[in-house]
Amino acid sequence: MVKATPFLLVLFLALGAHGLSVKKCSLTGRWVNDLGSNMTITAVNGNGDFSGMYHTAVTATSNEIKVSPLQGSMQKGPNQRGQPTFGFTVNWSFSDSITVFTGQCFVDNEGKEVLRTMWLLRSRVENINNDWKATRVGTNIFTRLSFQE
Ligand code: BTN
Repeated sequence: MVKATPFLLVLFLALGAHGLSVKKCSLTGRWVNDLGSNMTITAVNGNGDFSGMYHTAVTATSNEIKVSPLQGSMQKGPNQRGQPTFGFTVNWSFSDSITVFTGQCFVDNEGKEVLRTMWLLRSRVENINNDWKATRVGTNIFTRLSFQE
């Protein structure tokens, strides 16, 4: 028992140091996706709620694109391990549509933060007979924009 104590101490310190050095993924900040759309997420509050602005690079409409508000929620459960799941809604200010995104904030193999998402874009249609064609689905990958970009 006496011999095991220093070993356990070293093991405990090593595991602790490793825990401290593991990089976490934070949603806060400016992001760009694979379509060239930009998004800014302002601070995530203690409940995991956040808001921000979304500037899409593309539109399914013929309307002029405008920056639009987003509201979201990040999972704060104990098992997220610095790579949290989240969802957010963009209420487009220039169209009748709504998009919901769901995803996870990862630290990739190069240590870079990346948001892997899926989305549903719901367009407004004139009547119920057109409901079948009202929803598009896709994926987006977001990477962090640094100060200069
Ligand atoms: C609209 O066309 O009615 C609103 C804009 C929709 C833009 C979509 S949302 C999913 C995809 N990801 C983006 O960054 N932009 C498109």
